[in-house]
This record gives sequence, structure tokens and C-alpha cells, in this order.
Amino acid sequence: MNAPHNPLRSPDDVRLPRPAGPSALVLFGVTGDLAQKKLLPAIYDLANRGLLPPGFSLIGFGRRDWSDSDFTEVVRTAVLNRSRTGFNPDVWEQFSQGLRFVSGSFDNAAAYQNLGEILKGLERSRGTEGNVAFYLSVPPAAFSEVCSQLRDAKLATKTRGWRRVVIEKPFGHDLESSKRLSSAVNAVFEPHEIFRIDHYLGKETVQNLLTLRFANVLYEPIWNNRYVDHVQITMAEDIGVGGRAGYYDGIGAARDIIQNHLLQLFALTAMDRPKTLTAADLRSAKEAVLAATVLPDDLVATTARGQYGPGWQGGKQKLGFLEEEGMNPDSTTETYAAITLGIDNDRWRGVPFYLRSGKRLAKRVTEIAVVFKTPENNLFTGQQLQQNTIVIRVQPDEGVTTKFTSKVPGIGHQVRDVTMDFGYSHAFTEDSPEAYERLILDVLLGDPPLFPGQKEVELSWQILDPIEAVWADLGRPEEYAPGTWGPPSAAHILRRDDRVWRRP
Ligand code: BG6
Repeated sequence: MNAPHNPLRSPDDVRLPRPAGPSALVLFGVTGDLAQKKLLPAIYDLANRGLLPPGFSLIGFGRRDWSDSDFTEVVRTAVLNRSRTGFNPDVWEQFSQGLRFVSGSFDNAAAYQNLGEILKGLERSRGTEGNVAFYLSVPPAAFSEVCSQLRDAKLATKTRGWRRVVIEKPFGHDLESSKRLSSAVNAVFEPHEIFRIDHYLGKETVQNLLTLRFANVLYEPIWNNRYVDHVQITMAEDIGVGGRAGYYDGIGAARDIIQNHLLQLFALTAMDRPKTLTAADLRSAKEAVLAATVLPDDLVATTARGQYGPGWQGGKQKLGFLEEEGMNPDSTTETYAAITLGIDNDRWRGVPFYLRSGKRLAKRVTEIAVVFKTPENNLFTGQQLQQNTIVIRVQPDEGVTTKFTSKVPGIGHQVRDVTMDFGYSHAFTEDSPEAYERLILDVLLGDPPLFPGQKEVELSWQILDPIEAVWADLGRPEEYAPGTWGPPSAAHILRRDDRVWRRP
């Protein structure tokens, strides 16, 4: 949708970030869904925006028996299909000169030796200066194998330049496995060399939460239990699991989305003001609120799980979750999850935070809705005042909406709800970059604030584990129809508190 022309916006809005210095990136898991749809296009888009150095090199590592030119073709297809900034033949020409492929399984020591040789060659031929980021877009079970192979091949020890490792969520399956994973990675890389990717932190609107809360005086004074009634955090998708059954079965909506993306949104919404915007201060502000998070006593009545069944959505017939390709027909994995959290601190005590996420829901939307209490004394007798709400729209249509009450024009004093809208597409000239562009650039720059620390990850598992333990005994989740807002039990969670879920 084209934004209407806004004469007040200034070209100064467009400030290019700092470009990365000489470097190479080794991508493990190049054939995966994430690499094809997000990572390869994002890396090219960075080059297209002039943010990668001319000698930047990208090495794919995978089991396929590919030559460099096969890999180049794969990257080209991913770029043509998904690039945000469009295909530029001149940029492609230079970028594609730096593409290499190493064929081998993750436990093949010879393949790592080969990788070492290729990296040395690129250092000489393309001036990468020995700076290498290893991006592990692989299942968590493979993290420790890849890390120890990198160590054995002496690729994790820096001789010249820097070494960094990027790991993708899920960081484990529960608290224990997450700790094991961290020890495996920590045994090979220093803490400052480890970048944990939660791509929601790379989204503009998520970063804007900090600005909204701490660069304004409007919000902080009312951001507490004196004024806030409750908070709803929603991440809804209209798609199903598609070809990702192998990854998704046994993981489910809570581990896939709530443990990471939604608990990060929750922490950024509820945390106290960090001392500074450095990684250390941001992490400690988030850790404090995650550590103060408490679960309700009744984990059955305050949570919900569902599985999408077959049905119609957007005029098309859709398979149910259990019929998806490669899915175990007896799977008890949930595709919808909703939970209730509280925070035991002076700011938030008594305010419930409801978090929900699901696939095949009515629409794709992620938002944080802060719902306020109604005024104590209602001057407008006979009229029910509605709750003011601030909605931070993470995606799509990024922006902030404030819902408040206004007088209806005319005689008398009738009131009703109106909304005030801020939309990124109207206010700024630049389109928001993809989250992965921002995060990959930050890895190459060595900038850690948008990456969660190990402690945050562990605290998040600590919150989720007791819920998963209760769910494990409940059997198959309740079925819901595609294109709806999830299973009926989700509505009960709020109804028992006399509230309703928003329809974003
Ligand atoms: C990923 C999940 O982390 O986020 C996927 O594994 C999900 O299941 C995806 O589809 C959604 O990301 P986005 O940026 O499209 O909201």
C-alpha cells in the first residue's frame, strides 16, 4: 500500500547505518527454510544497501554435493524470490564473486579442514582479514557438534581478526537442555563472541518500544498497576506449519514463539528503565522483570492449547495440523498456546499479562495491547466508559494506536471510543529493513544489544517449564477451526477474569 504524501517528513529520516568491515560469514543449514526465505535474501539486501564491504564472502556449509556455482544459483534464486530491495545486476556481480560452498555433514572433520583452507584463501583473495562469523541455522541438537568440530579444526580460535558464532532459537527444549547447549557453545566461544538470534528484537517496532517508553514523558507515569488493568500480547499467524512438520512436531507454539519472541516482547514492555542502552544494561533490566515473573496457581484454567483442524480459510480448503505432510497423526503438539503471567514487583503486582500465539488463525498480526483501567469517578452518568488502550502494532502495518473516549458532536454529552494512529509508513520515508538485515549487520559489527543473553533465555525457560509439565499430562490439545481465534478454552482464560481477548 502506498502511503499518502506527507509534506512534513524530512529526508533526514534516512540515515544509513554503519557498514560492516572486512569479513566472511559461514552459513550452516543453507538448505533450510530459514536460510532460503530470510537469511540469504537479507545478506544480499545488506550488500545492495552498501552495508557490506566489497570483499565480503559467504560460505555455505551443507550435506548437498554442490559446487560453488550450484550454490551461487541457489543463492540467486533465493534473492530473486525474496529480496526486499530488488535484484541489482552490478551488486550481484560483486556479491556472487564471494560465494563458496563446502560440502559435508556436520560431523565430517575433513569438511571443516576444507572450510579452513577456503577461509584462508578468501583472506588473501578478498581481504576478509580473518574476520569470520559462523551462523548456525541448524537444529539445536547439532549446535554442540558444529562447535566442537570448529574447535578441533582450529577455526574457533582467532589467529587474526575476530570470530563470532550466531545461534538460532530454539535455544534448547527446556531449562536443562538449554543449559547443556550453552555449556557446549561456551566451551568453544567466549561470551562476547556468542550472538543468540531472536529475530523479533530486530524488528523496528520492537526497538521502538524502548523509544516510546523512555524517550517520552507521556507513557512511563501511567505504565504501572495504578493505571494499567491488563496487557495482551498477541502473535497470530494465518499460515499453517506447511513443510516444517519435522521441526515443529514436539516443539509447538509455546516453545516456538512464547518462550522467545513473546517473552522478549513481554520483558521489553514490563521492564524498568535500563541504565543505558548497552547490552549489559538492557539484559539486566529484562532479567530483573523475567526473574520477578510469577505463574498463577491454576495452570490449567489460566492457559490454553489448541491444534488447528481441517477446514476453510480465505475461500480455500486447508489441511488440519495432523494431516500436514510428514506429521505424526497422533501428535499432541499444540499449534495454539495462551498463557497468563503476573509480575511480583511494586510496579506490576496484580496486573495480568496474557500472551497468545497460534498458527492458522484469523489473520497475521503481532501486537502489544496495554489496556487501562476506567476512571474511578464516572462524570458521564448512565454511560459505560470504555477502557483506554495503547496498541503497539509490531506487524504488519507497524505503528501505535491509542484508543480513548471522546464526545460525540451534537447536543447532550454522549461519549464514544475513538482512535489516534501513528503509522510508520506515513511518518517515515524509509521502509523498515527486515529484522535479519539489522541483526546480521550487528553480528558483523560486533554490536550485541539486540541479542538476548544466556540468563534471559534460561529465565524464560524457567517460566515456561512448569506450564509445559502440566500440559504434558493433558493429552491432545483442543481442535480449532482454521481462520478463527483459537480454541474455545482460550476465551475462558480471560472470561474468568471478566475480560475478553481483543480482535486485532
Ligand atoms: C519463527 C518461528 O521464529 O518465527 C516460526 O519459528 C514463525 O514458526 C516465525 O512462523 C514468524 O516470524 P515473523 O517474522 O514472520 O513474524
